[in-house]
Amino acid sequence: MFRSDLFQGKRFLVTGGGTGLGRIMMERFVELGADCVICGRRGTVLEQTAKEVMARHPGRRVETHVVDIRVAAAVEEMVDRIWSIGPLDGLVNNAAGNFIAQTKDLSPRAFDAIANIVLHGTFYTTNACGKRWIADKRSASVISILTTWVRTGSPFVVPSAMSKAGVAVMTQSLAVEWGRYGIRLNAIAPGPFPTEGAWARLNPLKEEDDTRYKARNPMGRVGRPDELANMAAFLMSDEVAYINGEIIAIDGGMGIMGNGTFSNMMAYGEDDWRRIREQIQSTNAA
Ligand code: HXC
Repeated sequence: MFRSDLFQGKRFLVTGGGTGLGRIMMERFVELGADCVICGRRGTVLEQTAKEVMARHPGRRVETHVVDIRVAAAVEEMVDRIWSIGPLDGLVNNAAGNFIAQTKDLSPRAFDAIANIVLHGTFYTTNACGKRWIADKRSASVISILTTWVRTGSPFVVPSAMSKAGVAVMTQSLAVEWGRYGIRLNAIAPGPFPTEGAWARLNPLKEEDDTRYKARNPMGRVGRPDELANMAAFLMSDEVAYINGEIIAIDGGMGIMGNGTFSNMMAYGEDDWRRIREQIQSTNAA
């Protein structure tokens, strides 16, 4: 299904699309024939990305908008400007903020710094697009980028975990409320994908190197950005238009590994398993 004309004639908005995973997803859409709009807080970063991507894909268009999605009026104005050129066919809620901290040390402003981006900003953007799609009687696809913590919670990133859980519930709620308009909402819950921005913030002591991730992940590695980009293209596509309201993890199985009582035994070698067998058989015989 990943034909070079899969998204011919489509136009998608990727929030935070100037860098990191947002940029990678946007570029995959462009490779598959879409025009894209990217927004973020830093105009020079957005413009540089747009220039590079358009140079690599002649004929495709990447528009940029400087916006802080925490500001509802600014989001409205951006979406107005986007629609004045033409309607969108899809949205990726990718822009996020996060830092690791002990929850007891968080000030109200620290909580708000994350919640205003992830929870409020995602809602502002989704609703600004949604009401226009409904008025225009246009079908559309929305993808929100979550994390696997929405299922389990996570210590030390509580504002992010709470906010992303809110976006998960928005996804399910609007999938039902807007399904009748042909607007579907799905979410991707990535595990560890090493990008410069996320790694610097979430791995501040540089302790979580690839070796430790190997032991903590059933697939023995971190995610490859193109795998996430393919998942986004898959969900965005009309070819899977019956998928609505789903939250799909892409984490090599890491999110469910901790739930198994015996997951620690992943590290055991053949000698350990031989001793375990002998021990169990001798217990059975006793
Ligand atoms: C405690 C902190 C803090 C920290 C900031 N604050 N950093 N408190 N520990 N490490 C507090 C400040 O003291 C202040 O409160 C309040 O938060 C606001 O801080 P500002 O710096 O003024 O905030 P702002 O400029 O709005 O910056 C927002 C931000 C920043 C979220 C803090 O990091 C940002 O803009 N990030 C965007 C990009 C990003 O974070 N990407 C990573 C996403 S990765 P007081 O009370 O002192 O004024 C991700 C997925 C990871 O989400 C998946 C991994 C598996």
